[in-house]
Amino acid sequence: MLKHISGIIALLLCSISLLQAQSIQSPNGKLRLQFSLSNTGEPQYQLDLNQKNILKTSKLGIQCKDEASFDKGFSVLKVDSTTFDQTWAPVWGESNRIRNHYRELRITLEQKTPANRQMVLCFRLFNDGLGFRYEFPAQASLNYFIVSDEKTEFQLSGDHKAFWIPGDYDTNEYQYNTSALSKVNGMAGGAANEIHARTPIGVNFVQTPLMMKTADGLYLNIHEAALVNYPAMNLEIDQKTFKLSSHLVPDAVGNKAYLQAPFNTPWRTIIVAEKATDILASRLILNLNEPSKITNTSWIKPTKYVGVWWEMHVGKSTWDYAGTQSASTWDLKTATPSGRHGATTQRVKTYIDFAAKHGFDGVLVEGWNTGWEDWFGKWKEDVFDFITPYPDYNVKELRDYAKRKGVKIIMHHETSGSVTNYERWMDKAYDFMKANGYDAVKTGYVGKIIPRGEHHDGQWMVNHYNRVAAKTAAKQIMLDAHEPVRPTGLHRTYPNWLACEATRGNEFNAWSVGNPPEHETILPFTRSLGGPIDYTPGIFQIKLNVFDPNKKEQVHTTLAKQLALYVTLYSPLQMAADLPESYDKHLDAFQFIKDVAVDWDESHYLEAEPGDYLSIARKAKGRNMWFVGAITDENARTATLPLDFLPDNANYIAEIYADAPDAHWEKNPTAYKISRERVTNKSVLKLALAAGGGAAICIRPETSTKKK
Ligand code: NOJ
Ligand code: CA
Repeated sequence: MLKHISGIIALLLCSISLLQAQSIQSPNGKLRLQFSLSNTGEPQYQLDLNQKNILKTSKLGIQCKDEASFDKGFSVLKVDSTTFDQTWAPVWGESNRIRNHYRELRITLEQKTPANRQMVLCFRLFNDGLGFRYEFPAQASLNYFIVSDEKTEFQLSGDHKAFWIPGDYDTNEYQYNTSALSKVNGMAGGAANEIHARTPIGVNFVQTPLMMKTADGLYLNIHEAALVNYPAMNLEIDQKTFKLSSHLVPDAVGNKAYLQAPFNTPWRTIIVAEKATDILASRLILNLNEPSKITNTSWIKPTKYVGVWWEMHVGKSTWDYAGTQSASTWDLKTATPSGRHGATTQRVKTYIDFAAKHGFDGVLVEGWNTGWEDWFGKWKEDVFDFITPYPDYNVKELRDYAKRKGVKIIMHHETSGSVTNYERWMDKAYDFMKANGYDAVKTGYVGKIIPRGEHHDGQWMVNHYNRVAAKTAAKQIMLDAHEPVRPTGLHRTYPNWLACEATRGNEFNAWSVGNPPEHETILPFTRSLGGPIDYTPGIFQIKLNVFDPNKKEQVHTTLAKQLALYVTLYSPLQMAADLPESYDKHLDAFQFIKDVAVDWDESHYLEAEPGDYLSIARKAKGRNMWFVGAITDENARTATLPLDFLPDNANYIAEIYADAPDAHWEKNPTAYKISRERVTNKSVLKLALAAGGGAAICIRPETSTKKK
């Protein structure tokens, strides 16, 4: 009897403690995550930094279509808490070592009705923020289920200043806006007219990564990690209470995700920093992704490239062979070339020669294959076949020519959004590449998606992008995707996936109102947190009326700032985007692009404020060379750069590529000056950045001989 009673007491104590909140602290003790259940058994959490609320009590849950939802009626079945601390080496990256250090809290929840269904909430608390996900273990009472929405809340503590782009199911190619959350208007443009396929959600919707700053100067960023077999998350803002709620991208019939247990959702991430530079230094999103699935990574090479590309964007030449843009007047056998086709054998050889002379690894060629005459805006299924060249592009001749010159041609697959067609061609297209010496592909998804009704950021397309990453990895092909869903750190898992566009790239400056000077000071705090951008910097011919006297567009930059972007916008894939003719006019400044590394041992974030300025120093991988980039928005300012990241007791030579005193992004963009200075790790450089300007520095030991 006595034994019986003590058993009951133990059971009671246990269930009382399981009802109480569970909490963990970050390894340094500053962040605290608390989990609890509401009276009706709704899961909820809260996040504090130094006892102050970052997120007040916020609900968690998944809503299902044809069965009861995973959002209430839960009790806690089991609580596990562990610590993890491991350092790993990325194949390429901003640094050669990454520490993955967190406390984990796993809460196993059970619903009594319906029939004992379980869901696990897994929280990982790092020194720089929180990641959590929903896990559905294999279980008798759950197999297939359809998600009608996810009900994850982020209850902010105030009307924070936000750097945002409109919530949208199809595109991220918007300009950034800066406003209080209460003032967000996701339907007010964002210079959106030039975007080919966009589906804005509503006034109070924004995308992630969402960068915010609180009134007391804290920096917060919400995004996601490891987006696999699930749609992307947008955020709905309650503009009175500042509660953000997840809003998933729907499919063609309005459902969000089709799942089968066991399944883990992507991680929801909140990076918390007391300094803006610590947002840039965070590796939380990478740490939440799975390790590389590729065991032999020796064929994966960070790449600097040029290409038959910008000349089409500025209107000097065309992708299309006959220049008709109309298939009805075009026949491959009889068409005469317009004389403006960019990807001719001859023109590609000019780029190959240029690449070989200046030490570039690759030459991207767009407009080499048939289909461009039969495309734009038609929402047609079979446009490109990815293996048939235009008559003036000789695949074999260029294969042999590039090989002789030690340069790789980079393949281009514009899918025109017709993903059904691309899926049918993928195997043949990759085999064609391998047979002709290509080992990198740039894909593109311009326009509305086919299957019709699907969105760029929905589950179906997320699965497609990931399938392309896996398939190219299996064929030893490096990948760069344009117009995909914004990245979530999957390049850790697929290191062949060097970069994505998924943003308003430099190309918008060629044919639209473009990107304002502040754009590149926001990107590292937003889009870049998910992964490298193929931004295509390096435009030297900044005013574009040389290509056509009526052309009003220009890049909103100084020339020196274009150099700085190679350091401030991290990517293992960097293009020198301008024409060879433009570089030939400024070979002294071009030297920086030739010298700059694309893979790094260390990165140091010297100073930063989103929307205003940032300065970053990086050490080239395996070399005693450092590169510094400093950029500003439309305001001139002085960058203060302590060189204390350099090793002690040695002299170095800093080659400084700076704005000239009279430089200005609009009035005088190409005024730059190059100087050399002896420096040590005690030096502090003060560099004047022009309005819309920047500075780039290459630092080497004094004794080392300068490369050609
Ligand atoms: C848009 C891409 O971003 C751009 O780089 C490419 O040249 C065009 N689509 C054509 O595919
Ligand atoms: Ca694009």
